[in-house]
Amino acid sequence: MSRLWYHLVNKLFLQSIMKYTNTEEIGKSVNLIDWNEIIKHNTFNDLWIVINHTVYDITSFIQYHPGGHDILIYNAGKDVTDIFFDIHNKDILKNAEKFIIGKVLP
Ligand code: HEM
Repeated sequence: MSRLWYHLVNKLFLQSIMKYTNTEEIGKSVNLIDWNEIIKHNTFNDLWIVINHTVYDITSFIQYHPGGHDILIYNAGKDVTDIFFDIHNKDILKNAEKFIIGKVLP
C-alpha cells in the first residue's frame, strides 16, 4: 500500500513539474543572434527581419510578399515589430514560423 502511495505521489509530482517546464523546449538549443550579424542581412538576396525578438530569414518569401519587396528591403536587418503589427493581422505570423532562424541575443 505504501508503495502505491509512493508511485501516486511521484506521478503527481512529475506531472506538476511537467506543467511548469515545457519539456519540448528542453534540449532544443535556441540560436541566439547578435544585432551586429542581423543588420548585415539587408538585401533582396539575403533578408532578415526581427519581430518580437525573433529573427526571420524571409529571403525566400520576398518575391511573394503581397505588400511588395521595396518595403521589405527598406526595413531589412531591422526590428519591424511595430510596423508589422500596424499593417498585418497577428495570425500572419503563424504562417511565418518556417522562416524563424533564432532569437535576438539579449
Ligand atoms: C514575416 C514577414 C511578413 C509576412 C509573412 C507578411 C505577409 C503579408 C501578407 C499576407 C500581406 C497581405 C495583406 C494581409 O493579409 O494582411 C501583407 C501585406 C503587406 N505587408 Fe507584409 N508581411 C511580412 C513582413 C512585412 C514587413 C516587415 C513589412 C513592412 C515593414 C510589410 C508590409 C506590408 C504592406 C505595406 C502590405 C500591404 C498592406 C495593404 O495593401 O493593405 N510586411 N504582408
